[in-house]
Amino acid sequence: MTNRKRILTGDRPTGKLHLGHYVGSLRNRLRFQDEYECFFIIADLHMLTTKPTKEDIYAIGDNARQIVLDQLSIGIDPAKVTFYLQSAVQEIYELQLLISGLVTVERLQQLPTIKDMASAAHLDQMPYNLLGYPVLQSADILMPRAHLVPVGKDNESHVEITRQIARRFNNLYGEVFPEPDAFVEGGTLVGTDGQAKMSKSLGNAILLSDDSRTVKKQINGMYTDPNRISADIPGNVEGNPVFAYHDIFNPNVAEVNDLKERYRAGRVGDVEVKEKLFIAVENFLNPIRERRDHYESQTGYVDELLYEGTLRARAEAQATLIEVRKAMGFTGVWNRVRRSVEKRQKKMEK
Ligand code: TRP
Repeated sequence: MTNRKRILTGDRPTGKLHLGHYVGSLRNRLRFQDEYECFFIIADLHMLTTKPTKEDIYAIGDNARQIVLDQLSIGIDPAKVTFYLQSAVQEIYELQLLISGLVTVERLQQLPTIKDMASAAHLDQMPYNLLGYPVLQSADILMPRAHLVPVGKDNESHVEITRQIARRFNNLYGEVFPEPDAFVEGGTLVGTDGQAKMSKSLGNAILLSDDSRTVKKQINGMYTDPNRISADIPGNVEGNPVFAYHDIFNPNVAEVNDLKERYRAGRVGDVEVKEKLFIAVENFLNPIRERRDHYESQTGYVDELLYEGTLRARAEAQATLIEVRKAMGFTGVWNRVRRSVEKRQKKMEK
């Protein structure tokens, strides 16, 4: 375990995770957990950038638990990974300040991600912490001295900032941080409306924790080829979300190919295509639901896991901070003050 390279990745606790998260990142985590030492952060401090009210902060607790449950339910092994709560690791706040001079305001202002987040949150002025979002993210990544950072395409530039900060730190103060590589995760999943990326707030999502009835409703209401007003009109398979889902979630390739063929020829109704998709998605979700029930039935388990993980992350963070303060020379500054006082105190005792 200890000689493995490290991964740091995670999510803002905005709500339960859905099939889009599974396709985009969660299924990679399943693979990574066997190859790397994994730290999965619940990035609640990042939510202060756009959701800073007391109500927003209150909601973090539940969302954090749900995100851990979501990950356990898809088969993430709690013995293999460290889940932790960002806001409970004070060293992250400290590191963020210590590295904040290693990147320029201009560099941060040029990032499209920051502007996009500001406009999505309807902010007409840029909060200091939103501009600093990638610096906080860098502190997350540098804290466990991670080697690999799986992120969506939109976060790639943030890892690039982290690399720059690591390089500058090492040059200025001495080698402390590995320069982390981004692992850019591919594969986004279109929402059930066929219009945009799956997102809970758009109402086009199927959650990993949805029950059968909800899933049935979502799939029945899915957008398909709009030109097909009856089953005998040849339909479009390409760009059709129902078939995009079949390709991902239906392991029966022969069935999928048969459906596509008949769809193109106008020999199958949307009802049948959706029914078969429902069965496939249910088969995918059933073991996930079972695992979720299993973990949920153990009262306090998730809290305990998050608690233990946070303590572990903190120990790691403290060790890094000691190295950082030493390398920068702050330890020396303080030690001189402390030693001088201690020496005088000793003299007075005599
Ligand atoms: N920025 C990520 C998001 O879009 C969340 C996050 C915060 C993160 N810190 C991280 C991801 C560190 C990877 C590594 O939700």
